[in-house]
Parts: sequence; structure tokens; C-alpha cells
Amino acid sequence: MWLNYLPVQNQRKREGVTLIGSMADIAILVAEEYERRVRQTADSRSASLEFDWWKNVPAKMTIGVNEEKIESFMKKFDSKSQERMGSSDEMPVVLITGCSKGGIGHALAREFSANGCRVVATSRSQSTMVDLEKDTKFFVQELDVQSEQSVSKVVSEVIDKYGQIDVLVNNAGVQCIGPLAEIPIQAMENTFNTNVFGSIRMTQAVVPHMASKRKGKIVNIGSISILAPGPWSGVYTASKAALHALTDTFRLELRPFGIDVINIVPGGIQSNIADSAITSFNNLPELKLYKPFQESIRQRAFLSQNIKPTPAETFAKETVSVVLKKTPPAWFSTGRLSTVMAIMHHMPIFVKDFLLTRSFMKMGAKTE
Ligand SMILES: NC(=O)c1ccc[n+]([C@@H]2O[C@H](COP(=O)([O-])OP(=O)(O)OC[C@H]3O[C@@H](n4cnc5c(N)ncnc54)[C@H](OP(=O)(O)O)[C@@H]3O)[C@@H](O)[C@H]2O)c1
Repeated sequence: MWLNYLPVQNQRKREGVTLIGSMADIAILVAEEYERRVRQTADSRSASLEFDWWKNVPAKMTIGVNEEKIESFMKKFDSKSQERMGSSDEMPVVLITGCSKGGIGHALAREFSANGCRVVATSRSQSTMVDLEKDTKFFVQELDVQSEQSVSKVVSEVIDKYGQIDVLVNNAGVQCIGPLAEIPIQAMENTFNTNVFGSIRMTQAVVPHMASKRKGKIVNIGSISILAPGPWSGVYTASKAALHALTDTFRLELRPFGIDVINIVPGGIQSNIADSAITSFNNLPELKLYKPFQESIRQRAFLSQNIKPTPAETFAKETVSVVLKKTPPAWFSTGRLSTVMAIMHHMPIFVKDFLLTRSFMKMGAKTE
């Protein structure tokens, strides 16, 4: 148990302090102490958890609180925090891919940490995670999900350091924009190698460890776009559809080993994703048949960022609270237009086709 209230009571009796104050005062003190411990344990597993804060409570703040009430409050507080963590007294170790500043992975890293987890933040280059590297709460590692060697190196290092990986978040992903009939196969392979095989590579690397502990959570970041696939993002949407299908199968196949698999399905979220989208577009050979649609295609690269996207921090807050539940759901969707897309999914195909054609297949439209 993280907060052991009994020593406090004993100490209080020994020192003859009289408790004065409202339940709100006590709640604030407990919350502050809880946060301090979370931070302390994140910095060092061996950090002292002595319950000595009580001595610092100013006498005038401590008035007439019924001892039984404090006891039951602390019990409730403890059981609530345990329920959230879904585990015993250990702080979960969370390994996240694609944590470059400004993106979803970065926001998730901060939010998991704020919720008392030890976070292994990874990305292709340490230079995109400088702020996390400076913060001792994070274990920052370079990891390219396309490389078998890089994946197994980082997973071994995390096991060596912490002896456990409780949550894997397969967040790393790239967009790929262009007409299916003209995108070079190599660009398609690159997208699938990151979004699909990268997630499988990571999952295969952590499963033996999680299975040996008979617990763990694998979180795949899918996409709401698969509910109404439209023009110009076919490769990306197909890669995410494949990931959704794999997530469903993984969930069933990993259940006997105590591993939960969760599909997180974002709508439009503020991030750097337009960068990978426009890079893939700029790398296309000159368009042939689709030259007249060039500006529409280009605009598609910025779509998720031009629809008043949900801030990544808001998305991360909601997602982390769902993932840390003792029994997380199989599917969780949130973010800009996620409800609209869910509705579109159930529309007749001819209606979807009409709407998507009108929205995206304009010839000679201007770039914003
Ligand atoms: N933003 C949205 O609206 C939205 C909607 C639905 C789904 N998603 C999904 O959310 C996830 C995060 O994307 P984001 O929106 O936060 O975009 P982002 O800001 O571009 O972040 C993508 C992250 O993935 C990393 N990455 C790319 N290739 C990698 C590789 N081979 N190995 C390791 N890391 C790699 C990127 O690293 P670099 O910085 O080195 O490129 C970056 O850290 C993606 O899976 C994306 O498909 C986003």
C-alpha cells in the first residue's frame, strides 16, 4: 500500500498533536503527499517512503477531525489509487514509441508520468525528446520500430533497468499521401513497415516478458479514418485498418497470458503528423493522371491539423485514464470528428462516396 496511514496515527498519538481542520484540509495534504511520493518513486525506486510529512503540518491547521473519518478517508484513497494503477505497490513501467515533441507520444509520456508511471520515452532521434531527456522522471532511448536490432536492444535495456514492462504503447506512425495508382510501392512498404510491422515487432519483443509475468497491456494507436476511407490517404488508412484487425486478433490470442490489448482510435489530434504527410507527398514522382488533383492531394496532408484538432494533452489525459483502468476497454475513440466519422461509417456507401468526393476530389483547388 502506498499510503500507510497507521504509522501516522501512532506518531500523532506519540507526539500528542491535536488534529484540527476540515476534511478538505486533510484531503489537500494527502493529495500533496501522494503527488510527492509519485514523483519521488519515479526518480528512484529505492527512494525513502517514510511517512514523516505529518510533522510539518502547522498546528493551527489541525482541528477536530474525527479519527475514524480520517481512517476511512485514507482507506478509500488507497483503494482508489490502487484501482487506477491496476497493480500492486509497483509503479507501472510504460514503454512508448514515437515520443517526439509536439506529437501524441510526447503528450502520452507526460500524462503517464503524471499518473505515477515510470515512462520509457522513445523516438528515432534523441534530439526530438530533449525536454524529456532533461527530466529525470523519464528514461529516454532512441528506437526505430523498423529495426529489429533497435527494438530488441531497447526492450532488453528496459528489462535490465526495471525488470518489467507493464504497458507498451505502439504510437509511432507515419502518414502517406497520394493517389494509390501512382504511389511507388516502396513508399507504401515504408508506411506499413512503421505502422503495421513496427507495432508487431514491438509487440513480439515484449510479449514473452509480459506472458512470463502473466500481466501486461498493449496499446495500439489506430485511426478513426478507417471508418470512412477517402481519397489520397489510402495507404495510411489501409495500414491502420490492418493494425485494427491485428489488434483484435492479438487481444484474443494474448488473453490466455493475462495481457490486455487496447485499440485507441484517435480523431483529429494536434501533432506533427502533417510533416510526415507532406514529406511523403513531396517525395512522390511527378503526378501523371492525377496532376489536376495536385492541390486537393496536398491539402489532404494537412486535414487532421486544419479541423480544429483536439490538443494532444487533452487526448492523452482521456487515453491514459482509460488505459490505466484495471479492466480497460477493447476500443476507445476520442478526438475531433471521431463521432462524425463513427456516424459516417454506418451511412450507405453511395452517401459516403458522395460526401468524400465532394470534400476531397476537387480539381485545381488552392492550397491553404
Ligand atoms: N494526429 C492525428 O490526428 C492522428 C489521428 C489518428 C491517428 N494518429 C496516430 O497517432 C500516432 C502518433 O502520431 P502523431 O499524430 O503524434 O504524429 P507525429 O507528431 O508525426 O508523431 C509520430 C511519431 O512517430 C515517430 N516515428 C515515425 N517513424 C518511426 C520509426 N520508424 N520508428 C520510431 N518512431 C517513428 C515520429 O518520429 P520522428 O519525429 O523522428 O519523425 C514521431 O515521434 C500515429 O500512429 C498516428 O498515425 C494521429
